[in-house]
Amino acid sequence: MIMDEEDFKRHLKDKTNEINEIIKTYLPAEEGAQKTVIEALNYSVLAGGKRLRPMLMKEVYTLLGGRSRIVEPFMAAIEFIHTYSLVHDDLPAMDNDEYRRGQFTTWRVYGDGMGVLAGDALLNYAFETMLSASSMKTEYEDIYSLYEAMQIISKKSGIYGMVGGQCADLEAEDEKSLLSEEALLFIHEHKTAALIQAAMMAGAILAGADLETIAGIERCAYNIGIAFQIRDDILDVIGDDKELGKSTGSDAENGKQTYVTLHGIEKSEEEVHRLSDEAMKILDSLGGNNDFIKALVAMLVGRRY
Ligand code: IPE
Ligand code: IPE
Ligand code: MG
Ligand code: MG
Ligand code: MG
Repeated sequence: MIMDEEDFKRHLKDKTNEINEIIKTYLPAEEGAQKTVIEALNYSVLAGGKRLRPMLMKEVYTLLGGRSRIVEPFMAAIEFIHTYSLVHDDLPAMDNDEYRRGQFTTWRVYGDGMGVLAGDALLNYAFETMLSASSMKTEYEDIYSLYEAMQIISKKSGIYGMVGGQCADLEAEDEKSLLSEEALLFIHEHKTAALIQAAMMAGAILAGADLETIAGIERCAYNIGIAFQIRDDILDVIGDDKELGKSTGSDAENGKQTYVTLHGIEKSEEEVHRLSDEAMKILDSLGGNNDFIKALVAMLVGRRY
């Protein structure tokens, strides 16, 4: 362990609480004729979740010297986009799941139509939130980097990122022959690693990092992202519904080919370790106090939730 386990747990709890407070300040008030969709939006965000993406964003931002509160609207926004991806991913037309973050999925409570709209609303609201950064009263003056951060987040969450990966994931369900390694990596890279890259790269951009550092962060986040999705696929087979807060066995039910169906649990676990070692090496090359972020990556490798 890179950091003492107790220390890590305490930091993790404190940091998660801080992120939850930031997110809450940006949530819309449940009022007006559109009240129901706002309730559905807040329901999906407040259900919980590990807050991994805003956490990684903030850690990279701080590691690379960022000290302003400008990162906060971006932290909230990346969690909104991630939550929208989950709300849509759970819909009957997609993975058809009833539990998420320890409670009924958004569509299961508010209906399919409202589930679609809550996801749409979260995506738009993420951009409203990021744009609000330009009017924040901070010592931060580099307006151009706000647009650069938004650009990377738009790209990595859209057709060249998460949406593209979800498209390939959905189409692969009908695939009768074995998926190639390349096809599976395309899915994992886009549906999952891309948003983790967006989070970490935006943190680096806002901290004023140079292009070489941003490219290093992109590779680091790629490794973390693929490892994270392989672990997610493992947990879908060996995980516990209660601990995970979502239904296991979903992949098998939907006939999904995953790293586990292609290579088995043992080889998948080895690959998760290899990828996270790669990520750690890149983190070490950046210098600075990286104890917490490394402990976080180490935790993800063996996580049960
Ligand atoms: C779940 O993401 C979807 C995947 C990309 C595997 P998380 O495991 O980060 O979900 P929450 O945010 O903690 O609920
Ligand atoms: C989802 O992958 C990735 C997203 C973009 C939401 P999964 O479908 O495996 O995620 P879970 O297991 O439902 O969280
Ligand atoms: Mg899915
Ligand atoms: Mg799913
Ligand atoms: Mg899964």
